[in-house]
Amino acid sequence: MLLVNIKELVGIDEKGLLMRRGAEMSKTGRIKNAFLLTKGKKIVDYGKMSSPECKKYLEENHRVYDLSGSVVMPAFCDSHTHLVYANSRETEFVDKIRGLSYEEIAKRGGGILNSAKATAKASENELYDMACKRLDEVMRMGTGAIEIKSGYGLTTESELKLLRVIRRLKETSPLTIKSNFLGAHGIPMEYRGHQEDYVDLVINEMIPLVAAEDLADFIDVFCDKGFFTCEDTERILMAGIKYGMRPKIHANEMAISGGVQVGVKYGAISVDHLEQIGKEEIESLKDTETMPTILPGCAFFLNLPLSPARDMINAGLPVAMASDFNPGTSPSGNMQLIMSMACIRYRLTPEEALNATTLNTAYAMGVSDELGSITRGKIANLIVTEPMTQLEFIPYYYGANKVAKMILNGKFV
Ligand code: NIG
Ligand code: FE
Repeated sequence: MLLVNIKELVGIDEKGLLMRRGAEMSKTGRIKNAFLLTKGKKIVDYGKMSSPECKKYLEENHRVYDLSGSVVMPAFCDSHTHLVYANSRETEFVDKIRGLSYEEIAKRGGGILNSAKATAKASENELYDMACKRLDEVMRMGTGAIEIKSGYGLTTESELKLLRVIRRLKETSPLTIKSNFLGAHGIPMEYRGHQEDYVDLVINEMIPLVAAEDLADFIDVFCDKGFFTCEDTERILMAGIKYGMRPKIHANEMAISGGVQVGVKYGAISVDHLEQIGKEEIESLKDTETMPTILPGCAFFLNLPLSPARDMINAGLPVAMASDFNPGTSPSGNMQLIMSMACIRYRLTPEEALNATTLNTAYAMGVSDELGSITRGKIANLIVTEPMTQLEFIPYYYGANKVAKMILNGKFV
C-alpha cells in the first residue's frame, strides 16, 4: 500500500530504538505532507511527498490511498490491562463516591474478590465474547497491541479459564496480544490470615499448569499494602522465571511497598502504578532494563496522588503510560484519553506523551523490536486520524475519538 498526502506523519524513529528515556522522550520524527509505503505486514519506506522516492513509488503499481488531512501515527500499545472480566462494578463506584476507600471495599470482600465470584460463574465462551467486544472498542480508539492479565480467577480452575480466553483472543484478534499470569492479584477470603498458603498454591500448582499449556508470557504480582508482601512477590517471581515467564509487577499503588526494588532485582520488564514513589525508587530504576509504567486512568478513577512523571523523566528515566483497563480501578481502555492526561495532569509534552503510549509501552510488553514507532522494517500498525492540524491536537481535543481508520499488520481493519 502507498499512503499519500498524509498531513503529518509522526512517531518516526530512524534508528529502531527499543525505548526512549529522559531527554530522548521529547524526540520523535515528524514529516509534514508525507507518504508511507508498506509491503505485506511491514513498513518499507516513508518520506516527503515531494521526494524522488515518492515520485518513483507513484509510477509503480501500488494500491494508493489518499489520506489528505489526516495525521498518521503508530497505533497505541497498551501494556497493562485486565480486559478479561465477567462483571462491571458500578455499585462499588457509587460506594467510593459516598466515601469508602478502595482498600475498605477490598477488605470487606468487594473489589477483586467481587470480580472473582462473577468469573467463577462465567463460562469460557461468555468471557471470550465480552472480551472481544472490549477489544474491538479499544481498537477503534487506536490500540493495536495489548497486554492482558489474568487475576480475576484466584482458583486454579478460574485462572486457567481466564488464560485460555486470552489465548483464544491471541488466535482470533487482529491485535498483537501478550498474556500475563496474575494469580497473585488478591487474597481469597479463605486464605486470610495465612496468605503464604495461597502463595504456595500459586507457586506449586498454578504456575506449573500455566506453563504446561504455555499460557503466559509474563508473571505478575500485586505487591502492595494489604495485598502481597515483598517476600511473597520474590517467591512467585522466582517460580515464574523458572518456567520462562518474565516478571512485570504492580507496585506502590497504595503505599511504598518495596515492590519497585524487587521488580528491578528480578529484571522485571516493567513496574507499574507507582502512585507512591520516592527518590530511592527513582534511583533504583536508573540504568536498568525495567520500564516504569504509570497508569493515569487508575489515579484519575480512584483520586490517587499523581506519580511524579516529570521528575522521573528529568532524572533520566523512561516512562510508559498504559490504561490499566479493568472493572475496579480504571473502566476505560481509551489510550487517547491517557495521552491527554499525560499532558494535562502529568505535564508531559505531546511528543513525550506519544513516546510514553507507543514506543515505551511497546517495550513494556516486549514488542518494541516490531511495534511502537514508524521505522523501516517494523510492522505497519498505524492510526489514521480524522482530519486535523497536527499531533498536538490529539491530546488537546480530549475525550473525543479522533481515530478514523486503523491499519493493523499492514491492512485496514
Ligand atoms: O491495576 N491494582 C491491582 N489491580 C487492578 C485493580 C483490580 C480491581 O480492582 O479489579 C489495578 O488497579
Ligand atoms: Fe493493574
